[in-house]
Amino acid sequence: MAQNSSSHQLPAQGMNFEQVIQALDASASDDVQWRNGKAFSLAYNAGPEVLAVADEAYKRFAGSNALNTHAFPSLRNMQAEVLDMAGKWLGSTSESAGYFTSGGTESILMAVKAARDQYRRESSILHPNIVLATSAHAAFDKACAYFDVEVRRVAVQPDWRADVLAMSGAIDANTVLLVGSAPQYPQGVIDDISGIASLAKSRNINCHVDACMGGVSLAYLAKLGHQIPPWNLQVDGVTSISVDLHKFGYTSKGASVIMYANKRLRSYQGFVTDAWLGGTYASSGMLGTKSGGPIAAAWAVMHFLGDDGYLRLTQSARAATEILAKHIDNHAELSLLAFPDALLLSFTAHDPSRLNIFAVANEMWKRGWYIDRQQPPQSLHCTVNAIHESNIEEMINDLDASILIALASGQSGDAGAYGTL
Ligand SMILES: Cc1ncc(COP(=O)(O)O)c(C=O)c1O
Repeated sequence: MAQNSSSHQLPAQGMNFEQVIQALDASASDDVQWRNGKAFSLAYNAGPEVLAVADEAYKRFAGSNALNTHAFPSLRNMQAEVLDMAGKWLGSTSESAGYFTSGGTESILMAVKAARDQYRRESSILHPNIVLATSAHAAFDKACAYFDVEVRRVAVQPDWRADVLAMSGAIDANTVLLVGSAPQYPQGVIDDISGIASLAKSRNINCHVDACMGGVSLAYLAKLGHQIPPWNLQVDGVTSISVDLHKFGYTSKGASVIMYANKRLRSYQGFVTDAWLGGTYASSGMLGTKSGGPIAAAWAVMHFLGDDGYLRLTQSARAATEILAKHIDNHAELSLLAFPDALLLSFTAHDPSRLNIFAVANEMWKRGWYIDRQQPPQSLHCTVNAIHESNIEEMINDLDASILIALASGQSGDAGAYGTL
């Protein structure tokens, strides 16, 4: 299969099924082998059984369209049931109301858009801004760029958590949303959600908790006896929260939930028009046509795993996280940026003049391991999945070998990118 070619032609005669599938498989030969547990970023894996359930459910509903659930009542019911189940993790009350979205970014886009529209309508704020820590996800900047909202980023504290006092100082009469992350992505620590939510409430501002990463795992880490500070809709002042099912829910890509404290707040998310010749067009999020694949996969995996399955998977992922974190913490050449609150960790070179941490990532990639590169500060980031309990020692051996090679070569690796165009 021709790659990166601008002159690739539609075949004059169609290929047969086997040829197409063979070509697709061949095209993926250089991809990270995430199904084998080699990815510590971008893909989530709880083993072949769970993947099989997700793939099969996805396949059956890939062509169904949740744009109109009159035609596809199955998708209406599945979305409603997924929201109910996820709502338990998120501390939903009988008032809470949410939507299924295509991912963390769409959930965040919608939280910002809903806050903008709410305060425009209810408080006549025409030039809104949001206040958040530098550690909050890049999707908030994207949301603000899309929806013409000012972003006010505030430096984190030395422990990488949001600085609530500094956030307070950045608020003005046009602030419509404060953000807390549970946990934030770059260093994997949980912000002071109670502090941020109470600040928001005292100033009559919305508060969104980005639990895209933690919405599943924090619920189960708490059950496993870990001390988890309050982080969900049970915290007074939290007005919305997001959780990605395609992360630690271990479902197929394209699945997230945004849950609002009540229906009034949620009402600012949707869009309805009949100002064209095609009749009423209503949609809950960014998409029009919305594949049933991610919805069915989420429903299927959640039912397949159940409460006990998620507890077990969280325990496995946490065990692997702790093994890796302790190894890094005791390593003469590495510094752990923060002991992980959940299943994410990041680390850097103890002495960057001796060891270039991106060179270590290069060596790991040569061995098939995909580890995220981030900055500032220059560091590597691991998202630890349940599958990694089985290969964390192998990964650690390769990490140690990669460090020795990077030290000996004295080379620098490239900074890479979290996301690409
Ligand atoms: C904390 C957090 N929020 C939001 C997102 C965005 O999610 P997505 O990539 O599904 O759009 C991520 C992705 O890693 C994340 O870690």
